[in-house]
Amino acid sequence: MLDKITLRRHLEQGLPILIYDFDGREEETDMVFYGEKVTWKVINTLRTQAGGLICYVTSKDIGQQIGITFISEIIKSNYPKLYKRPKYGDEPAFSLWVNHIDTKTGISDEDRAKTIRELHAVVELVENNNIDEAIQKFYNEFYSPGHVPILLSRGLSTRKGHTELTMALFSYLGLKKSAIIAEMLDNNISLSKDKSLIYSRNNGFPLIDGKEIIKEVVGL
Ligand code: 5RP
Ligand code: CA
Ligand code: ZN
Repeated sequence: MLDKITLRRHLEQGLPILIYDFDGREEETDMVFYGEKVTWKVINTLRTQAGGLICYVTSKDIGQQIGITFISEIIKSNYPKLYKRPKYGDEPAFSLWVNHIDTKTGISDEDRAKTIRELHAVVELVENNNIDEAIQKFYNEFYSPGHVPILLSRGLSTRKGHTELTMALFSYLGLKKSAIIAEMLDNNISLSKDKSLIYSRNNGFPLIDGKEIIKEVVGL
């Protein structure tokens, strides 16, 4: 893995990294940007170069501070017949899907960038301990359902998805708990690990393996 300073600088410049999870799990590569650096071009890149679902990622703790939890909790009690797990077994990381009130339809690159920019501002308020202000901003300025799914990290000791890998890496780099991710797709399937490596080399976007994050960040 690249050294901490180089990786942090790369993300702070608004450039993406690529994270492959694990053989035997999704076996997917996600493109990952820093939440602080969102622009419509970031959304455009995720949409056209990655192609998967564009999600905003923060931690479960931050979610709890603003009073949001996992959507699966609501599904479990209201739609028990829909409460099933994906084949690799993980409990989903999905929380609410939101739009900022100052968006038009919520889906354009500009609209999704606006929603994410304001979500990042909420996370920043929580990280700076301005919890009341964060809560006020979140409930006054957002509505749900919208076009930006929020994913909440449970921490790598509980779950080992891209959600947790991203947040663990960001904490390790000293960044805020705020990321934008999307799976890299390849026509009708997910982009293979080999093709992810070629894409990484051709574009200068570091490809980091889940195993490396576990080793460097968690020390296992
Ligand atoms: C949302 C997903 C993706 O797989 C994303 O990588 C986050 O999920 P996970 O933490 O399960 O890897 O399902 O598009
Ligand atoms: Ca998934
Ligand atoms: Zn994933």
